[in-house]
Amino acid sequence: MSYTNIISNNYANIYDKLMIDIPYESWVNYLCDIKIKYKLRGSKVLDLACGTGTLSLLLRDKGYKVWSLDNSDSMLNIFKSKIKKWERIKIIKASMSNFSLAENFDLIICLFDSMNLILHRNELIKVFKNVGSHLKKDGLFVFDLINPESFKKNLYTYDKTIKNRHNEYTYSWVGKYFRNKKIHELKMHFEVNNRKLSFFEKHYRKAYYFDDIKKIINKANLKLVDIFNAFSFNFASADVERHMYFVRNIRRNNGISKTID
Ligand SMILES: C[S@@+](CC[C@H](N)C(=O)[O-])C[C@H]1O[C@@H](n2cnc3c(N)ncnc32)[C@H](O)[C@@H]1O
Repeated sequence: MSYTNIISNNYANIYDKLMIDIPYESWVNYLCDIKIKYKLRGSKVLDLACGTGTLSLLLRDKGYKVWSLDNSDSMLNIFKSKIKKWERIKIIKASMSNFSLAENFDLIICLFDSMNLILHRNELIKVFKNVGSHLKKDGLFVFDLINPESFKKNLYTYDKTIKNRHNEYTYSWVGKYFRNKKIHELKMHFEVNNRKLSFFEKHYRKAYYFDDIKKIINKANLKLVDIFNAFSFNFASADVERHMYFVRNIRRNNGISKTID
């Protein structure tokens, strides 16, 4: 069985509503604290797997120079619909495992399960190598990963239909974890606007373990400096759903980045 993640237009259209309770503003404050804690000099940020751009836009509003990258046209179309023509936001359609930008960054982020959406280890190695070639010396890569143990606990399963605040849609999700493949399958069903639209969507996530991630980071010539519970500065513990990884580029990047394919 082969697994791929494809985001439909229907899903992208309701993504921001689905995320209504996600505290993006406090995530952005956390990223500002990171800039101070890790003594990042500049404010150039690359938002990998930017989706509909909520984080990118909030970071831009805080004065960061943001470049945003995602491989889904559906998600990027929503992002583009939120910005005015004159606004100078760099939006790139590419896979985070295969991109080349004539720019190096102080901070690269990849948040909200997006690294778990990379389903093959080889592909993940490419993500880190590409990140390495786009980070300034001493620049930081910050990403979250779902705690692999959480996958075993029916992650993201809602066994009843849930109405959102404005009764615009209902959804029911069923998560299933294939332990041998370390793949989590999430089957989602949505009904929008009093059942005028009904659709299914299936996404896969891969469980990555700390030891393996550390090996991959070393292989990409990057340095793992910290792992915290997500959106905190508390050391990673076994009982939380998501961990946050902090990775430094300790080497000098000379000029224009090269794609690692
Ligand atoms: C859960 S959403 C997170 C979006 C955004 N970071 C947020 O916090 O709202 C995951 C995003 O990862 C993107 N994605 C998945 N695989 C990708 C890849 N290989 N390269 C670039 N983007 C990818 C999807 O298109 C989607 O927009």
